[in-house]
Amino acid sequence: MLLKIAKSSVILGLAISSLSASAFNEQAEKDRIALIKYFETKFENPEANKDKFFPYSTDVETKNVFDKDVKHHKFALGSYAFNKASRAQYEVFKDGILPYEDQIEDGEKLYKKPFANGKSIASCIPDPVIGHLYPKFDETKKEVISLTSLINDCVRANGEKEWKTKDGEMAKVQAFIAQKTTEAGKEIDIKIDSKEAQAAYERGKKYYYSQRGYINVSCASCHVQGTGQRVRNEYMSPLLGSTTHFPVYRLVWAGLGTLEKRMSGCITDQGQKPPKDESKEMKELLYFMAYMSNGMKIDGPDLRK
Ligand code: HEC
Repeated sequence: MLLKIAKSSVILGLAISSLSASAFNEQAEKDRIALIKYFETKFENPEANKDKFFPYSTDVETKNVFDKDVKHHKFALGSYAFNKASRAQYEVFKDGILPYEDQIEDGEKLYKKPFANGKSIASCIPDPVIGHLYPKFDETKKEVISLTSLINDCVRANGEKEWKTKDGEMAKVQAFIAQKTTEAGKEIDIKIDSKEAQAAYERGKKYYYSQRGYINVSCASCHVQGTGQRVRNEYMSPLLGSTTHFPVYRLVWAGLGTLEKRMSGCITDQGQKPPKDESKEMKELLYFMAYMSNGMKIDGPDLRK
């Protein structure tokens, strides 16, 4: 009897300690698993599940345009994950001369280039293989630090004028970081280790799912429920894997841009003024999105229409 009690309290003790160690990301893990399941189910057989998931698509689309059995990691390709024709086009582009190759090189030079005081981005970020760890919740400052704010904090701390956050130097240095992180084979690894981090995650998630703007839609209307549907001539990409491949070179921009630039475009299209790129709102939104892609490989920079 005594042994039994001792045994069960050991088990209980273990259960409690493992619960408290993981409790802060418990909801986020549930959300992440549910999201993977949602997208895998949605794209398991679009033709057979047309009524449930693609009520606005034509039969031709669900039969000929979409792939079947699209699995978790493939969603990092955005809409190219399930759209056969645009993936084929993308693969041709990726086999050619990549329009962002020079910019990765520029990014490496900028990363090492001394500021007026002799320091550089490399002094603040000695190892560029960090793309998978950001945005990160800083447990000392109790706030989310995005890759963009990490870089600009370094620029500012060294007495330089802060960089623009949408393209230019910022996008180039991020392209270099993305490439190094990709080469190292890293998977997104976002941590939620405190009550405050959990609250930041929840605020980011709330933003993602809140309907707003004059058309009254949320990010999720388009990038969860709407994934696979068309807006103008573009198939909407999934939330899953949406942060794995930035910065991207967009043909529409004829240039390289950050994730914040892309998101701001979507928010402007919703008829809203986007939050500033280094604002708490934007960083927490990024934190939520990146957590959803935990475990997926960094594969950037990339190419998009
Ligand atoms: C009315 C629909 C709509 C809404 C609402 C919307 N987007 Fe988009 N978004 C698009 C379309 C269309 C594209 C281009 C096609 C695609 O998804 O890659 C896009 C592209 C993106 C991409 C690039 C994906 C990639 O693989 O390159 C990201 C990231 C993104 N949106 C994030 C957001 C966020 C965050 C919100 C909410 C703040 C949002 N979007 C709201 C329609 C929308």
